[in-house]
Amino acid sequence: MSINLSTQYGGIPLKNPIVVGASNIVSDPANLVKLEQAGAAAIVYKSLFEEQIELEAFSMEQKMEAYQNWDAEHDTFFPAIKHAGPAEHLMQLRQAKKALSIPVIGSLNCVHDETWVQFAQEMAATGIDGLELNFYANQTDFGAESAGIENGQIETVRKVKKAIKIPVFVKLSPYYSNTLRVIDKMDEAGGNGFVLFNRLFQPDIDVEKEEHFFPYNFSSENDSRLTLRYAGLLHKRISGSIVANTGILNGRDVVKMILAGADATQVVSAIYKKGIHQITHMLEELEGWMTKRGYESLDQFKGKLSKENLADPFAYKRAQYVDILMKSELFIQYHPKDGDGEAAEEHS
Ligand SMILES: Cc1cc2nc3c(=O)[nH]c(=O)nc-3n(C[C@H](O)[C@H](O)[C@H](O)COP(=O)(O)O)c2cc1C
Repeated sequence: MSINLSTQYGGIPLKNPIVVGASNIVSDPANLVKLEQAGAAAIVYKSLFEEQIELEAFSMEQKMEAYQNWDAEHDTFFPAIKHAGPAEHLMQLRQAKKALSIPVIGSLNCVHDETWVQFAQEMAATGIDGLELNFYANQTDFGAESAGIENGQIETVRKVKKAIKIPVFVKLSPYYSNTLRVIDKMDEAGGNGFVLFNRLFQPDIDVEKEEHFFPYNFSSENDSRLTLRYAGLLHKRISGSIVANTGILNGRDVVKMILAGADATQVVSAIYKKGIHQITHMLEELEGWMTKRGYESLDQFKGKLSKENLADPFAYKRAQYVDILMKSELFIQYHPKDGDGEAAEEHS
């Protein structure tokens, strides 16, 4: 039985559904080639941030005072920011394109409309195959209305789409009042694919030192469930591709996402935690599962468990939430000595 893992990624044909998500792994050019050799279908290059663009002209200190959306978090997580301006980033993109035969997707995170459009154009000119708009933002402004923020992002998608010819992807957080509506509107605005979801870095507090610290906070297994749910809700409801991201750590997670309705996945923590060869393992696991189940292509099971394809989409309904919360056995399952039930493992 020959197995075909190919899939569509917002108009870009991929040989398999595992894409390396944006991260610092690409900072070492040797890793780029290793990722391709391990079987990655495409690579999203780390983001170019508006702060990098601005900082080329100003010192970090001046910027910290003048820039509203800037906070210490950025400084901690992207220390290379002081040295890497946009010119260097664009050069790195050209080099990545040259070094790889798989598609390279750029990633951009800006604040102002003009910068989004200008740098989308500059990045597209490097020859990259697609551009991901990274809408990572930490809201600290009590006065900013949700509708204003959402409409601003939808407009950005529309403007960038108009300005460049390559596919445009949107990477967003799940924190909207109605995430489905926002995605639907971005889909209408021309977004070619949606990366669900960005993992937001959150600060922690060291109680001994009584100060903040900023752990990297890689994903763990159950972090993929929100993504799973949205892949299932969006399947066949939008024209852009569905790209599952966050907590996809092994081949079974890839299978789950495709069963739910995703077209592809992005992985980062899996590589940080287990090494670049994890991509190869994940592909082997995916192929092994397909062989066992008699599937020859992803399309044969893509969306099989989406809301669209379930006769009784119980998994996607409010009733399921109520049902679980009302179960009186739950406590007894975890604490059998306090009740008369058997100890039970969480079903993951
Ligand atoms: C060290 C590190 C650097 C990252 N840099 C970026 C980035 O530049 N742009 C971006 O959109 N996401 C970035 N991310 C987020 C990842 O692309 C991804 O969305 C997140 O880690 C969730 O996927 P995972 O569960 O596979 O890790 C970064 C993540 C890590 C751990």
